[in-house]
Amino acid sequence: MNQIELIKARHSVRSYLDKPIEAEKVEQLKAKIAECNAAGELHMQFCPDAGKTFNRVLNKFMGLGSAPSVIACIGKDEDDLEERIGYYGEQIVLFAQGLGLNTCWAGTFNPKNVPAEVGEDERLVIVIAIGYGVNQGKQHRSKDPEKVIASGGEKPYWFNYGVEMALLAPTAINQQKFLIDLKEDGSVTFADQGGIFSKVDLGIVRYQFEVGAEHAKAQGRLSRQ
Ligand SMILES: Cc1cc2nc3c(=O)[nH]c(=O)nc-3n(C[C@H](O)[C@H](O)[C@H](O)COP(=O)(O)O)c2cc1C
Repeated sequence: MNQIELIKARHSVRSYLDKPIEAEKVEQLKAKIAECNAAGELHMQFCPDAGKTFNRVLNKFMGLGSAPSVIACIGKDEDDLEERIGYYGEQIVLFAQGLGLNTCWAGTFNPKNVPAEVGEDERLVIVIAIGYGVNQGKQHRSKDPEKVIASGGEKPYWFNYGVEMALLAPTAINQQKFLIDLKEDGSVTFADQGGIFSKVDLGIVRYQFEVGAEHAKAQGRLSRQ
């Protein structure tokens, strides 16, 4: 599957089978995580045993407690840490989807119980539950594109396709609190409108926008619709 197909196939999954991820896939995941850590200057870690990461009542109710493993999203505590975690973490999420695994970004976790290494100047921002889902999840409800495009007027196909992929992105409580704009000079801007984990959301959204825009451009769909 290409990145577009993976974006379309991915949905949050909160109930998992009691089945560990095979060693071969773990190795592939670790390699992808290492690649993203290097590119994003992050310290994300695969934790094969989720342990009691999701020991809270809410998570038990939501089902995340059944996730066999987690990816701990950690990095040096800098201003853009959350956005970088979103941008690179989503690449891991889509890679996992390609391995036939399911995931769910999760802000409700017990930080004391995440079996990961957090350096002194680092921060554990969020985790990603990962494993074999009981199902494949379902498509979320989405805002209309006009609601997330900052300026009016006709836009090129590649921009609209980028927005379409951005609207398929996971966001905390499906808030989709972001605005994307196309400037006169052809540059694209991304702004968050506040809300819980909205900076992580913004990184995720930016990545999926780029996948869409690049895909459309590669197909030669540069014209205005
Ligand atoms: C930053 C972030 C935090 C999230 N936190 C949680 C969480 O704590 N618990 C949960 O069940 N889902 C969580 N989600 C999953 C969202 O609820 C989900 O992405 C959204 O409803 C859209 O659905 P989809 O992922 O199936 O497209 C989170 C997603 C993001 C991006």
